[in-house]
Amino acid sequence: MRIYHKIPELKEYIAFQKAKWRSVGLVPTMGFLHEGHVSLIEKSASENDLTVVSIFVNPTQFGPNEDYETYPRDFEADSQAARNAGADILFAPPPDEMYPDGYGTYVYVEGLSDLLCGKSRPDHFRGVASVVCKLFNIVTPDRAYFGQKDAQQLVIIGKMARDLNMGVKIIGCPIIREEDGLAKSSRNTYLSSDERKRAAALCRSLYRAQEMVQAGQRNAGIIHDAMIQTLKEASPDLIDYVEIVNADTLQPVELLAGRVLIALAVRFGQTRLIDNIVLEV
Ligand code: PAF
Repeated sequence: MRIYHKIPELKEYIAFQKAKWRSVGLVPTMGFLHEGHVSLIEKSASENDLTVVSIFVNPTQFGPNEDYETYPRDFEADSQAARNAGADILFAPPPDEMYPDGYGTYVYVEGLSDLLCGKSRPDHFRGVASVVCKLFNIVTPDRAYFGQKDAQQLVIIGKMARDLNMGVKIIGCPIIREEDGLAKSSRNTYLSSDERKRAAALCRSLYRAQEMVQAGQRNAGIIHDAMIQTLKEASPDLIDYVEIVNADTLQPVELLAGRVLIALAVRFGQTRLIDNIVLEV
């Protein structure tokens, strides 16, 4: 596996590979790789000639009081995990390589970025879309792989790629869960053992919603209230939101029909966790 920290060298190598008609898959990450990331890398490796994994803790997607400084980082373990999963290239730029002095261009996907997580994280998706756009320009992937856990991010990146004719296929991959159902996330390491146990309530509430839908319930308000009740049993520190929305537009629905996204964000201690489920109704 080749490791690059500088953009020009990486671009040169990729141009050389593309001249030989090699297909390129990109797995953008912020590092501290877990089984969720590994599943994305393995999928890319199975579908492309060359898999690029980027590791970059992107400062522009963190709010002023968020965890940019303390976000977990372990470059050695990440390189090992990426190599074992089948990555050919690891791209790990320092912040000033991506945002040199005088940097001032951002991508904002209207109509989607200020909903759900965007309500409490106002500039988050502007930072995500901007860095992913930059990574697409640098790597010029044929396909790019993202976890369904960040459902809103996946919808926003899909729209950005379509709206800006980026010519990259965006591929969403299933959520990988712990045994008790907690979605894998680099931020799970922040949880104390008590918070960790209580955090399984996120997926319990999603499964409760799924069971209600399977039993014929279509009223979003009733499902929402049942989910809140399940979450409250685990005494969360904050329920940021529980929302039932159209899976493509992210607009709230009153009656469930078509592809529906049920998404939530809940804080245990200082750790904000998100999870979701997509149902075909
Ligand atoms: O999902 C993430 O880890 C990040 O938001 C991403 C897509 C790598 C952009 O920094």
